[in-house]
Amino acid sequence: MKAIIWTKYGSPDGLHLREIEKPTPKDNEVLIKIHAATAGTPDTEFRRLKLPPLYVIPLRLYIGFLKPTRITILGTEFAGEIESVGKDVTGYQPGDQVFGYTGLKMGTYAEYMCLTENSSIFDGVFAKKPINLSYEEAAAVPFGGLEALHSMKTANIQRGQKVLIVGAGGSIGTYSVQFAKLYGAEVTGVDHMSKLEMLRSIGADHVIDYTKEDYTKSGKLYDVIIDTFDKSPFSGSLRSLNENGLFLNANPKLFDRIWMQWALKGNNKKVVTWTGGYTTENLLALKELIENGKIKPVIDRRYPLEQIVEAHRYVDAGLKKGNVVITVVHNQ
Ligand SMILES: NC(=O)c1ccc[n+]([C@@H]2O[C@H](COP(=O)([O-])OP(=O)(O)OC[C@H]3O[C@@H](n4cnc5c(N)ncnc54)[C@H](OP(=O)(O)O)[C@@H]3O)[C@@H](O)[C@H]2O)c1
Repeated sequence: MKAIIWTKYGSPDGLHLREIEKPTPKDNEVLIKIHAATAGTPDTEFRRLKLPPLYVIPLRLYIGFLKPTRITILGTEFAGEIESVGKDVTGYQPGDQVFGYTGLKMGTYAEYMCLTENSSIFDGVFAKKPINLSYEEAAAVPFGGLEALHSMKTANIQRGQKVLIVGAGGSIGTYSVQFAKLYGAEVTGVDHMSKLEMLRSIGADHVIDYTKEDYTKSGKLYDVIIDTFDKSPFSGSLRSLNENGLFLNANPKLFDRIWMQWALKGNNKKVVTWTGGYTTENLLALKELIENGKIKPVIDRRYPLEQIVEAHRYVDAGLKKGNVVITVVHNQ
């Protein structure tokens, strides 16, 4: 089968198209014929290993110390079709169309991969895909959709609340904007000027170009601030919250986690640092919302698997609006 082999940490040049052996499912696994994947920011962060020091050593131990050796295929989101199932699998059968997120297991830049039926964050999570989405559209749902769904549940957004989303034009951000609108909030999206028109098109009531305006200095107050990308100044964000406001950060550094809790002493504001929601149950909740027309993926560009290097370069350039899809065409 075709696969993109990850040969070094750093630039996209370390990603190479190769022929490798097709995997065989174990008794509790399904074999998935992948039709689409994505080039997301987490994939480019793994590729470069440009992550906080706390994560880098464990990741090197897990992936390969000097270069990727234990995990050699990148890619975390996918949509595809079950080709065969192991003898102990009861919930799926050949022909089922599925979508999912493989997390640290990675492996979606390939024609096929195996996942265990009882999925988990370590083994990957998947579910039957929304019937009204193509494979390409469905592949762009799991990461951003699950992160946004989880944060929205945590924030418990109420009708009429003022919600500000930092990094609104990205993968998590575009779902967060749609969820916040769905729950009746007045939504302000903060991102690069090139993404503001798209943000209005998915429902943002107000938009802010972060290169021109610092929302923490506008004097406006919000009930909820969601930072999807750890880009907002914490003290300023706290000042921009109403008295009982909530600040959610998807990805804070370790020191910031401690400092954020300490800085709260003496006021009614709340800080949540979250990551997760990677369950089949949540994927099924997303499927239902999508099938009912409540949310949809924002897709910027599509690249064939063979052009993965160009796709990663595009994401590295910070131009991505929503999601970049990788299409996997099978010869037979
Ligand atoms: N499982 C995981 O791997 C996992 C789990 C939880 C969280 N995360 C983390 O979540 C983060 C977000 O993911 P994502 O996929 O949503 O990222 P994304 O698609 O790249 O979106 C981030 C957005 O933030 C914008 N941005 C950059 N600087 C900004 C600023 N100062 N103010 C406002 N917006 C700004 C970017 O725009 P420009 O670049 O064009 O400026 C981009 O549109 C990643 O860092 C990822 O590591 C990962």
